[in-house]
Amino acid sequence: MTTEWNYSETPEFDQHLIEIRRHLHQYPELSNEEFETTASIKKWLAEADIRVIDYGLKTGVIAEVGKPAGEGPIIAIRADIDALPIKEETGLPFASLIEGKMHACGHDFHTSAIIGTALLLKQREHEINGTVRFLFQPAEEKALGALKVIESGALEGVQAVFGMHNKPDLPVGTVGVKEGPLMAAADGFVVEVDGVGTHAAVPEAGVDPIVTAAHIVTALQSIVSRNVGTLQSAVISVTKLHSGTAWNIIPEKAVLDGTIRTFEEEVRQKVLARFEQVVAGVAEAFGTKARVRWIQGPPPVSNDKRLAAVAEAAAERAGLKAIVPVPSAAGEDFSFYQKQVPGVFVFMGTAGPQEWHHPAFDLNEKALPLSARYFAELALLALDEY
Ligand code: NI
Repeated sequence: MTTEWNYSETPEFDQHLIEIRRHLHQYPELSNEEFETTASIKKWLAEADIRVIDYGLKTGVIAEVGKPAGEGPIIAIRADIDALPIKEETGLPFASLIEGKMHACGHDFHTSAIIGTALLLKQREHEINGTVRFLFQPAEEKALGALKVIESGALEGVQAVFGMHNKPDLPVGTVGVKEGPLMAAADGFVVEVDGVGTHAAVPEAGVDPIVTAAHIVTALQSIVSRNVGTLQSAVISVTKLHSGTAWNIIPEKAVLDGTIRTFEEEVRQKVLARFEQVVAGVAEAFGTKARVRWIQGPPPVSNDKRLAAVAEAAAERAGLKAIVPVPSAAGEDFSFYQKQVPGVFVFMGTAGPQEWHHPAFDLNEKALPLSARYFAELALLALDEY
């Protein structure tokens, strides 16, 4: 079945995207539970005769426009589709109908805009010098979805990958494009310090894990100030420290948790290595043993220089203003794709009232057709590079 209306540059097209976005917004689904969302995306694509390719994903959709894969270069455009466990407080007429779940990061916007791109490109299919593969990816919020898509094989044959995040603090009509680091690697850690319990009045009979943990926390602060270059950046925050049961007992154990944020893989590896050395060294100095367990987050989002220039050129073609954005210390699993193939992630100006993950998060829907058009132009320009 093919819809009647003309996709491009019409109020009907804008309205169609708004309806898609609002439907997704009303029925948010959490990471790896995006079954209805998956079915809806397939339906909207099928209405325009866009082919869906089965890669065996439980949730998420892979679709293609252009030549059959293999008859030219392939570029991929990724949109994430999952929502968050947040109770919506926007008061919007199309607010979430699912209690305690909300599209508070605007992935409904990403999904509907990129469906728009697929619709626009379908109309210009004869102009496509290769294949545009759409990755409607599940579970970004758990930083697991991109890896699933990669494992499914959907990135095979892809020369370049593009994606976006809406950006509440950028005006509608702008797109943030920059080469190099854009979003941070977000690693977590748990450090367990083993002591030997004893009476608080007889410390010499045990080994105090609290004193050791306190020195570890202090020594960790030297990594950013002494091991990271002045023009580089990193954050180490210890956010939890648990130990002890009573005022007169030296406990057996202390546990500390926290996070490390870095923007460059080289800095990241250096900081993680120094972290282990500092923890082990301080523990040894105090006659204890400490174990580090890593909660590995996504690597930093870092944009390919040549493709960033293409992404900038696409802005002009789509009538958007390209600006150089301030990087965000949030994490994004788009970076896993960039480990496989060169890619560019951009920030789309959506002039929202609140930051990501806020219960009153919202965005300006005027950015929807602009984003759809931007990625259509970007896809065509990028394919010309190969
Ligand atoms: Ni997000």
